Amino acid sequence: MKEEIYESILPQIASITESETDLIANMANVCAILKDAFGFWWVGFYRVQGDELVLGPFQGPVACMRIKKGRGVCGTSWEQKQTIVVPDVNLFPGHIACSSESKSEIVVPLIKNNQVFAVLDIDSKDLNTFDETDRFFLEQIADLLT
Ligand code: SME
Repeated sequence: MKEEIYESILPQIASITESETDLIANMANVCAILKDAFGFWWVGFYRVQGDELVLGPFQGPVACMRIKKGRGVCGTSWEQKQTIVVPDVNLFPGHIACSSESKSEIVVPLIKNNQVFAVLDIDSKDLNTFDETDRFFLEQIADLLT
């Protein structure tokens, strides 16, 4: 089910990112496609700017704008250069609650030349929303943006 949705949106995302070179434009449409396909509570990007992540294109409610390296799920994904799946945000030490509605989360780093330049963050209103399937496909989507 979930696999089928990802399989159906991957070619659409590939086609968009192949035809457009502007990163912000591509991030904006990736947010729209993911939100539309899955109805996630919040989908967005944070971009590395110096020693902080700064809010980029997103779909969903207002969110925190700056996150330090190593802070929250996003800053931890940046620091560790790896995807982090959080089944229950209340059990993640240092989780930054932009919204009390968020119950589970996945953060995927965008890496170029071994450097994280942004992260893709998705929040769900339900517990245990994300698993290895999401990691597998979202890492492919992240690759399309590098
Ligand atoms: N929960 C994230 C902060 C960003 S919001 O979820 C949009 C974190 O802990 O890094």
